[in-house]
Amino acid sequence: MEYYKLSAKPCSSYFFFAILLLFAFLASFADAAVHFHEFVIEAKPVKRLCRTHSTITVNGQFPGPTLEVRDGDTLVIKAINRARYNVSLHWHGVRQLRNPWADGPEFVTQCPIRPGQSYTYQFTIQNQEGTLWWHAHSRWLRATVYGALIIHPKLGSPYPFPMPKREIPILLGEWWDRNPMDVLRLALFTGAAPNVSDALTINGQPGDLYRCSSKETAIFPVEAGETILLRIINSAMNQEMFFGVANHKQTVVAVDAAYTKPFATNVIMIAPGQTTDVLLTADQTPARYYMAAHAYNSANAPFDNTTTTAILEYKSAPCCAKKGQSLKPIFPQLPGFNDTATATAFASQLRSLSKAKVPLEIDESLFFTVGLGLINCTNRNSPRCQGPNGTRFAASINNVSFVLPRRNSLMQAYYQGQPGIFTTDFPPFPPVQFDYSGNVPRGLWQPVKATKLFKMKYRSKVQIVFQDTSIVTTENHPMHLHGYQFYVVGSGFGNFDPKNDPAKFNLIDPPERNTIGTPPGGWVAIRFEADNPGIWLLHCHIDSHLPWGLATALLVENGVGKLQTVQPPPLDLPRC
Ligand code: C2O
Repeated sequence: MEYYKLSAKPCSSYFFFAILLLFAFLASFADAAVHFHEFVIEAKPVKRLCRTHSTITVNGQFPGPTLEVRDGDTLVIKAINRARYNVSLHWHGVRQLRNPWADGPEFVTQCPIRPGQSYTYQFTIQNQEGTLWWHAHSRWLRATVYGALIIHPKLGSPYPFPMPKREIPILLGEWWDRNPMDVLRLALFTGAAPNVSDALTINGQPGDLYRCSSKETAIFPVEAGETILLRIINSAMNQEMFFGVANHKQTVVAVDAAYTKPFATNVIMIAPGQTTDVLLTADQTPARYYMAAHAYNSANAPFDNTTTTAILEYKSAPCCAKKGQSLKPIFPQLPGFNDTATATAFASQLRSLSKAKVPLEIDESLFFTVGLGLINCTNRNSPRCQGPNGTRFAASINNVSFVLPRRNSLMQAYYQGQPGIFTTDFPPFPPVQFDYSGNVPRGLWQPVKATKLFKMKYRSKVQIVFQDTSIVTTENHPMHLHGYQFYVVGSGFGNFDPKNDPAKFNLIDPPERNTIGTPPGGWVAIRFEADNPGIWLLHCHIDSHLPWGLATALLVENGVGKLQTVQPPPLDLPRC
């Protein structure tokens, strides 16, 4: 599917000169490649848990194709929509400098690609390396439309750790034994929570503990003694997960395509949207070992309590020489579903590898309450009010429940100066102060629906404190900011204390990420410099919370001159 194209079309008598110019041009981009791909989004039969579904895939693959590039490379991906749904694709974690047009969230940076239409995403990876991923960003299509995006260092630059013998992408996912788009549609009709998934998956496979699944369990062969790199991606819709490998320690070396100081752990916690790279040395008795993942459920709510597995198989294991399956793999110990202590202890060990460029003076200090809410109904018995006590579920930031526009995308409306699509009066702090993580009066449970953006100057130095609320339930909300990497400078339980907590911030080597969870009933603080103009979605990566409104968008104004200004949109950008 992939080919490289580094040519221009010289013509007439200037041919020789043009060739010279071309070589000079190419030399200045030594080794940077352009990768062309076609992503055909189409329904294909996929059989899981004994049943075949007509599943939306990319090029017939589930999970979708892995993209492998180097830092500095350009990707040109023609997305062709042959499905019956509107679709858009997002390159999760790619900074997309001055290029929001390639970012993908529907009605934010583009109108969706209609059935039968296509759109070409073109973007360059600039100073990023590690594990990212891509996924659909329209309704619940990302349940099956996702894949890994692996960025290797520039040619000749090494990893900051010994070269692993092999690299294995581990995509954690969720499977519904029905059409995920219908699961969402039903939930949005009734106002109740969407059904939980029927299986968790590793690389699209539930594994040995589910019906009709063990024949296709993912198996990863290793040579005894070698060290491998697992690129773990939580591409699940709604579920934070614990992940472990029986008898093997994992050494964390990167999260969200940013290197960390290495540390060893038995288990990792990973939230939807996040990636974690770990080194694993096959230093145990040659045998078969389960890798397993199950939920970290921080909320007081139903969840998928099943366990997905794959197998790490030593090639020299006695069983496997003859392909016999008799030797039962050893099972890892995973923490309890609600083990917040382990999740917190894991997160607290993350440090960026090198000294971080954390903004020290802050221009925009924002305090965002994040959490669920309930919309009251006049008729509590209405089929549309099947949430708790005849309400409809909602979610909000600072009491604003975000509504996507329908008539145009935010970015297109902004670029064209079209009024009436959004306002820029998103509140920098909650309209009412209350005991956020305590017992919240019922009168504060109902958010207001609106399309409000927060506007800031180019190069503003920004701090956002995300404060989880206990409205309906406290919960770990993985907050994802498009177009940026940020530093996670602090976190804690209870209410953020603006007097005493900032003194404890790590401004030396905080981890750099694109997605960070609020501790349940707690807060997390991030900092970054707004050096990427455009409109960038900020949202909870739990996909049941996003349609309920747990989102807003940052409008970062242009700076001065071309290099600080959003580039013009491509001609094939879909219109609404
Ligand atoms: Cu990975 Cu807006 O998402």
